Parts: sequence; structure tokens; C-alpha cells
Amino acid sequence: MIAEAERILLSEEEIQAKVKELGAEISSYYGDKPILALGILKGAIVFMSDLIRQITCPLEIDFMAVSSYGSSTESSGVVRILKDLDCSIEGKNVLIIEDIIDSGLTLNYLVENLKSRGPASVKIVTLLNKPSRRKVNIQADFNGFTIPDEFVVGYGLDFAERYRNLPYICVLKPEAYQK
Ligand code: PRP
Ligand code: MN
Ligand code: MG
Repeated sequence: MIAEAERILLSEEEIQAKVKELGAEISSYYGDKPILALGILKGAIVFMSDLIRQITCPLEIDFMAVSSYGSSTESSGVVRILKDLDCSIEGKNVLIIEDIIDSGLTLNYLVENLKSRGPASVKIVTLLNKPSRRKVNIQADFNGFTIPDEFVVGYGLDFAERYRNLPYICVLKPEAYQK
């Protein structure tokens, strides 16, 4: 464990087991239907790369980059599109892949935006869910772990762009982000 961590919240093994479960759930839900797996940069990339290898449906990938946090630990509420999709999603089954739903502001904005583009369906999978922090009523269709209101990093999640490469998810010591 890194020195800045207070404790590990989810170990590499726990995460990998959950990713397998989610992959199986998603595969059986869609069956033979093709999926457009839409990763939300940057946080979702680690989860996405593991998850898509556990999905058996025909699948393409694309990415959007949106940011609502900047370098703070609190959402600013202002969602900016930094990178849009490469292709049209008209008639496609879009599966949004997120690392975490916190206030819900990022996804609330994204789902509305995507639905206006004529997809066949829009579903959400998130690895982590912090329902206690929700500001808008939005829920994932496929949920990994519900976690308490603590600032977590690792497995794609950052603090000021660091720690995304950790294979586990940990709670940072307050000193690590109050500097
Ligand atoms: C984080 C996280 C989610 C979003 C969740 O992304 O990866 O995308 O915030 O917060 P919300 O539910 O309160 O909107 P961030 O904006 O930090 O960008 P990043 O993925 O590049 O780290
Ligand atoms: Mn993100
Ligand atoms: Mg972030």
C-alpha cells in the first residue's frame, strides 16, 4: 500500500471478482446485441479495459472526456465536454462505463446529451456508487460497489491526476489532499 493511503477499501482481488460478475450480468442482459461501450475519460479507462474483456457480446468502443472536478476533491457542478464521440450513436445500444457516480452531475448531463442523438438505448455501468452524495436522481443499470462518503483513489480514480495506476482502491489520508 502507498504511504499516502489510510487504508485499502477494495483489494485487487475484490475488484477483479466484481468485474467478472458485472461482465457476466451485462453479457446476459444484451445477449447477441452489439454494444457501443462508451468509456468516460479519464477515470473509467482501467475499469473499462478489464470489463470489456469479460463481456461476450459483439462490442465496439469509443470515448468521451468530460470533467467536472478539475484538481479539487469536490465537483464544481460544471460539466465540460473535452472530447466528443468519434462516430454517430444513432440506433446503437450505448453502454456508458464510469468508475464512480458521486453527485451524479456528470452522468445526468451525459445521458441527456446522448439521448438527444437517437441511440437505440443508453445504459450505465459504474464500478463505484456513492449514493449519499447524490445531487440529481440518477442510477446506474449495473452497479459494482456502494461505498461510503470518503475520498478514494486508485484503479482509474485520481486526486490531482495521481494514483490512477494503483491496482486497488484506497482511502487517502486527509494530509494527502489538504496540503
Ligand atoms: C470523476 C469520476 C466521474 C465523476 C463522478 O471524474 O471519474 O466521471 O467525477 O462525479 P459526479 O457524479 O459528482 O459527477 P472527473 O471529473 O474527476 O474526471 P476524470 O475522470 O478525468 O478524473
Ligand atoms: Mn471521470
Ligand atoms: Mg478525477
